Amino acid sequence: MGPPRQVSGRAALHAVHALVRELRRPHRAGAMLGIRSGAGSEAELREYVARLEARGEMRVVEREVDPRHELAAVIKASQAESDLPILFRKVRGSAMPVVSNLYGSRARLCEMIGAADGNFCARWRALVQGMKPGTPDFLTSVPAPPGLRAVRLSELPQITYAEHDAGPYFTAAVFLAREPETGVANLSFHRSMVVSDEELRIRLGTTHDLTRYQRKAEAQNRALPAALLIGTAPEIFVAAAASLPYETDELSAAAQIRGRPIAMRPCETIDLMVPADTEIVVEGEILPNVRRPEGPFAEFKGYYAPRGEQHVFQVKHVSAREGALFHGLQCGSPEDTRLLQEAIAARIYSHLVAQAAGVIDVAVHATLLCTVIKIRQSYAGQARAIAMAAIGSHLDYNKAVIVVDEDVDIHDLHDVWWAFLTRGRADTRTMVIADVPGFYRDPERDHWGRLVIDATKPFGREAEFARSRIPGEEKIDLADYLVKR
Ligand SMILES: Cc1cc2nc3c(=O)[nH]c(=O)nc-3n(C[C@H](O)[C@H](O)[C@H](O)COP(=O)(O)O)c2cc1C
Repeated sequence: MGPPRQVSGRAALHAVHALVRELRRPHRAGAMLGIRSGAGSEAELREYVARLEARGEMRVVEREVDPRHELAAVIKASQAESDLPILFRKVRGSAMPVVSNLYGSRARLCEMIGAADGNFCARWRALVQGMKPGTPDFLTSVPAPPGLRAVRLSELPQITYAEHDAGPYFTAAVFLAREPETGVANLSFHRSMVVSDEELRIRLGTTHDLTRYQRKAEAQNRALPAALLIGTAPEIFVAAAASLPYETDELSAAAQIRGRPIAMRPCETIDLMVPADTEIVVEGEILPNVRRPEGPFAEFKGYYAPRGEQHVFQVKHVSAREGALFHGLQCGSPEDTRLLQEAIAARIYSHLVAQAAGVIDVAVHATLLCTVIKIRQSYAGQARAIAMAAIGSHLDYNKAVIVVDEDVDIHDLHDVWWAFLTRGRADTRTMVIADVPGFYRDPERDHWGRLVIDATKPFGREAEFARSRIPGEEKIDLADYLVKR
């Protein structure tokens, strides 16, 4: 087992370089985790899990865990000391192992999209700009993989996470659906409460593409066919987190991130093709004009969303690959927020670089409501102008926007706060913008108002604020110095 990994700053950059080097080496693929591979090289998630295990980057739990609270408590304890993923081999009530925290590390996310320099935003922007529209070139059609079998929903791990959650939830399922008129594919996440073998209750966010698809279908009193992909290839998971333009086919986007086509197989009961390597596929439809109670459920901000009337997903068929691996994700944990942080930061970054000079990188912090922007200053007041542009770039977030110079680690809030406290006055470098709505789900207006903090050096006095450093400090590896015990 590797040591706890730091996830910000220079350490993260070293980690990314190490991971990218590691990727170039041949790796042991296969069944080292005791997970059987159903179709060889197509089993993208298992390949990835096996690769992490081969690198000593997978925590493994052999003893049986209770899916009600115990599994979540172990994930939380593991995340408190490490960003390594964790594999539970025995989960009471199901034959399927559960993997979690796969996406809870910046270094792994950078590796997944090939951001060797640790700048997720710039790499993501380049990927999106280089993407070609259209599906056919990026998808291939294959038969169902050998060993694929029909299962009941209740055979999947029934994980209940927080104390007052209404019951078991699927939290890491990627919804795949097609725009009712154009057929463009969308990938997105929507927590799903397990009610029975035939029914899930799902929350559709007001701004999500799937919500627009559902409204279109509902206007014609039609159900919207959709599939939940549980245990998907990393590129599909990453593409699902991103809010790409409505017209963009997100399956094509996932294939282009991967750099090769995605093999698709037909569903059994709905007119939809799904990635053949997906561990578990839940087929069904979102019913029109039906709402039933869902929740409470502990969400990303660390509170419970109350019980409310939500959409109903009627389950028509569930298939699992041989030896299927289930993915469970704790909402509000680093695995939930880390990817969303990067996706939101990349969107803000792309907006800013299109209209302002000097933007180097953007970080969004774990609550998703605080954005930090790294700039290279070239005129007085630039930080404030860029902060205002950031607020306009994504209306749901950016409750606090902090702008720093290029020598500050934007992923470390201590460093960011140091810059604010040491580089100028508190009164003239903060700006409160009153009475502006923020996060979209906010009936009590708790997220109204914005805070801008200019934590940059006073323009023209940069030399006075040059950081002290020790020559050679960045090259020190303590393992070369400390006595091994
Ligand atoms: C791991 C993960 C889980 C998420 N879970 C939910 C969720 O349960 N409900 C929700 O409204 N949004 C959730 N989101 C946020 C958005 O649904 C997600 O970014 C979405 O895919 C945006 O897609 P769209 O803009 O194409 O609709 C989640 C995001 C991530 C990365």
